[in-house]
Parts: sequence; structure tokens; C-alpha cells
Amino acid sequence: MWLRHTVSALTLWVTWRSQVKIEKGCLVAETAGWLPGGVDMELPSAARVYDYLLGGGHNFAADRAIGEKFLSAMPDARISARTNRAFLRRSVLFMMQRGIRQFLDIGSGIPTVGNVHEVAQRVDPETKVVYVDNEAVAVAHSQIMLKGNEKATALQEDLKNPLEILHHAETRRLLDFSQPIGLLMVGVFHFVPQSMDPQALLRVYHDHVTPGSYLAISQFTSEFKNEQMQRVVKVMSQSRDPMYPRPKQEIEALFQDFELLEPGVVRLPEWHPDSPTDLDGDLEVSGMLAGVGYRR
Ligand SMILES: C[S@@+](CC[C@H](N)C(=O)[O-])C[C@H]1O[C@@H](n2cnc3c(N)ncnc32)[C@H](O)[C@@H]1O
Repeated sequence: MWLRHTVSALTLWVTWRSQVKIEKGCLVAETAGWLPGGVDMELPSAARVYDYLLGGGHNFAADRAIGEKFLSAMPDARISARTNRAFLRRSVLFMMQRGIRQFLDIGSGIPTVGNVHEVAQRVDPETKVVYVDNEAVAVAHSQIMLKGNEKATALQEDLKNPLEILHHAETRRLLDFSQPIGLLMVGVFHFVPQSMDPQALLRVYHDHVTPGSYLAISQFTSEFKNEQMQRVVKVMSQSRDPMYPRPKQEIEALFQDFELLEPGVVRLPEWHPDSPTDLDGDLEVSGMLAGVGYRR
């Protein structure tokens, strides 16, 4: 098993390393040999800006330019991204401790350190993971990374088309809907405006998973540091993924069909911290709130 992982990691690294260079201490895309068809390199995407903030190499000049503006608007954006990844990891482990062995990760992004299948399959190699993103680069790179992993897959679909995701042949091949599922919607709902009726969307997901399933959500909020958040909103309006931060009450309302578990919707470090020192420092640095709900 370790040999298969090592070989696929090496293949991925070699393919990828030949197409990146180091700029300002960050790995950036030099050629786009891995670029799937139909991607507009001039139009920044949230997936690639996030990748840039996390120090990844799957972003283009336009993404890096917006990434720099994002950093001007929110100087702690890199810490925010890492804090969000830490919430993702903790929520996966929380669900696994409660028996979850299959995940539907929607808005999964470009693979980086601590992807869901890595976190989960380290605990139980039999864990199944379906990644979904509506961004072609994120999905293409996820598919390269998952080559040889029979228990994880990646689909290009939109969160706003729940039935396409839930009835997709690949979703059904890997996930058993008669058993509880961990729904992960981490860092993605701020791309869904209220006009899209996010609660109605979530109800479709709720109604398709069996009791005992869980839902994790983190998203940008207007609850604190709102001036900064409005600057970020302005920056992201120049991308293909405009952003809609929500007040706490609206985020809590996203869990309406799920039972919101303790400690409720909170600032990211406050959600089941690994250690008390996680609560040192500025708890609002991520600009996000998060929670986990349970399907009764
Ligand atoms: C900030 S990243 C979060 C990645 C990962 N979930 C994490 O928390 O580290 C948001 C991702 O959501 C994706 N996304 C945005 N709107 C989406 C939609 N309507 N359907 C599916 N994915 C979407 C973006 O392409 C991007 O990859």
C-alpha cells in the first residue's frame, strides 16, 4: 500500500514540478500542461486564489493578482485559509470518531496538505470520499492525485445542482446512501447568495442522507471585521466567484433541518479546539464562522 502511495505521489510530483516555478517564495504555475479545456486563465477563480493563499502552484497570473489584492484587503488571509483547513480536518476526525466512513466533500478545492481522503484514510483506509467542485482545475488536479485510489473520486458539479451530485454514477458507486454520510461544505457557502435559497438546497442534501449523517459548514461572516470583509467582497467581485458573507443568524439558519451540535456556530478556533492554546490570539482572524449539524 505504501508503495502504491509513494509511486502515485512521485508521479504527481514529477508531472506537477515540471510545470511550476518559485516566485516570491511561492510555487506558481509556469506552464499549463495540466490545464483542462475551457478554463479561462484570465478570469480568477476562488479555487485558484485559495490555492495561491495556501502557497500552492495551481494558479495563474490573474489569480495571483487577485490574491495580492485579497491580501491587501485582508492581511491575515493566509492564516484564515490555514485556520479553515484546520477546521476541515477537525470536523472530519469528529465525524470519524462517531462512526462516519464516507464523505461527500462539496467545494473541495485544489488538493493541498491534509485533503479529506488523507486525513480519513489514515484513520481507516476503507473510508470513501467523493470530492465535488465546480472548478475545472480543482477537479482535474484532484483526479490526478486520486489515480490508483479506488476509494476516492472527484466530480465537476455545482453545489446548486444537488440532484446531479447525489445521483451521479460516481457518487453512487462509492457512497452507500443506506449508511450515514459526512457532508462537508467547508468554505463554500459564501459563494451561494441568499437569492439562491441556500436552505432549500440544503434540504435536498438533508433528505437524501440517512439519519446519523453529519453536515459541516464554515463560511465568511459579516458578523465581525465587516469593513475588512466588505473589501474582500469587492475584490472577489472581480472573479468568477463573487462572495456573500453572512451574519451568524443566517449561518445558523443553514442548519435548520439538522440538529446543530455543541458548541453551535462559532469562530473557527472555538469549534472543538485540539488544545487550549488554539484559543490564544485573535479568534476572529479567519473572518469565518463554522458549525456541525446532525441528521436525526
Ligand atoms: C475556499 S475553497 C474551499 C476548499 C476546501 N473546502 C477547504 O475548505 O479548504 C472554495 C471552493 O468552493 C468551490 N465552489 C465555489 N462555488 C461552488 C459551487 N457553486 N459548487 C461547487 N463548488 C464551488 C470553489 O471552486 C473552491 O474550490
